Amino acid sequence: MKIAVIGKGGREQALVETLAASPGHPQLFSFPGSDAIFRTALPLVADGLDSLIDAMVREGIDLCVAGEESYLVKGEGLANCCTRAGIPCWGPPKESAQLEASKEFAKKFLMRHGIPTGKAQAVANAQEAREAIDGCYPIVLKFDGLAAGKGVAVCQDEASAEAFLTEVFEQQRFGEGRLLVEEYLTGPEISIFAAVCDDQYLVLCPARDYKRLKEGDEGPNTGGMGAVASRQLADDETLNAIERTIVAPTVAGLQEDGLPYRGFLYFGLMLTPDGPKVIEYNCRFGDPECEAVMPLLQGDLAGFCMAGAQGNFKPELISFSEGWSVCCILASAGYPASSHSGDTITGLEDCKARVFHCGTRCADGGWKTAGGRVLAITATGDTLEQARKTAHTEAAKVNFPGSQRRGDIAYRNV
Ligand code: AMP
Ligand code: GLY
Repeated sequence: MKIAVIGKGGREQALVETLAASPGHPQLFSFPGSDAIFRTALPLVADGLDSLIDAMVREGIDLCVAGEESYLVKGEGLANCCTRAGIPCWGPPKESAQLEASKEFAKKFLMRHGIPTGKAQAVANAQEAREAIDGCYPIVLKFDGLAAGKGVAVCQDEASAEAFLTEVFEQQRFGEGRLLVEEYLTGPEISIFAAVCDDQYLVLCPARDYKRLKEGDEGPNTGGMGAVASRQLADDETLNAIERTIVAPTVAGLQEDGLPYRGFLYFGLMLTPDGPKVIEYNCRFGDPECEAVMPLLQGDLAGFCMAGAQGNFKPELISFSEGWSVCCILASAGYPASSHSGDTITGLEDCKARVFHCGTRCADGGWKTAGGRVLAITATGDTLEQARKTAHTEAAKVNFPGSQRRGDIAYRNV
């Protein structure tokens, strides 16, 4: 079996390596891929969606696995193009990926299907936003489109709300689009992943993402500075409530609305005093949660995705080990405001944990930084203590100028 994984970060490397380790020994391909991914996968040479599909057809790809979100909604949509070319795709078509690409679409979906979420109002300009906020702080402002994790502002006061309104409507930092003014919710956050195949689903191992740059959950929001994953992250009662009130109604809602879905679906949830509520949907695996969850996966991921992409749901093909997994991110100097490239990475050969490359380049026989988030370093263990001690000890062996890492991943909020 030939499988193409679309994307280039640590998440895609984790998917590529887990798929490659499947019992059928599939051959892996990737686009755009990375030097680290190309140690396991062959490159697909393309310069856009159309030529990517041509390249997949030429190579005889049997299954396309969507990694990052942008391709799902680009042009005609990755899954839509695959379907047209007769290639099964694990990842939803463009119309269903609006759940991630448009916060307003997602909010209407949630309301229509009675799925618990914060109250919200969509607005088209700063004046409408001020009227919707109506002096109630804290408030959450969300740009309607894809913004690489930077389109959400939790505003404690009028000054911060005004600053974000300027960014959105005057500077158009994220391009043109509307804004969602959303009720501020409180409680611990949890990332729930489901593998969805039409009207069926499997809830995978839950994870927690550490979104803020600095220890103690301080500093700006990032794509994620680390993650912890384990079945034990939430008790049975909480997981049952999540499945009953959120996952099952979402899958039923997709069916009801005629939105086809075969792929990973990510529920960003807040465990509020009134029960779990949806903060966001993502139509793919989380990053860095994927780098924490994949090392716990057992069984045949390739067979599972291949069958699922063809509408045959086979949950018995995969399972998750009982232990814990902790992933620490090393980010480049200046991240998330800017990113620094070309710095030499040292200590990788001494690191005994799993290393996934988020943004690196192989040059002069060594590794250089090439992005905001640079490396994801993951350790598993039977206990939380073992996993987090190993992850932090091994991550501390790796370095580059200006490296940023949180020392409290899996210590805080578990
Ligand atoms: P999102 O991109 O929608 O996941 O939002 C990014 C982060 O903003 C989330 O992980 C939360 O920490 C925070 N956030 C989003 N929505 C809310 C909300 N309604 N209330 C409080 N915090 C929120
Ligand atoms: N870790 C958050 C995300 O993947 O969107």
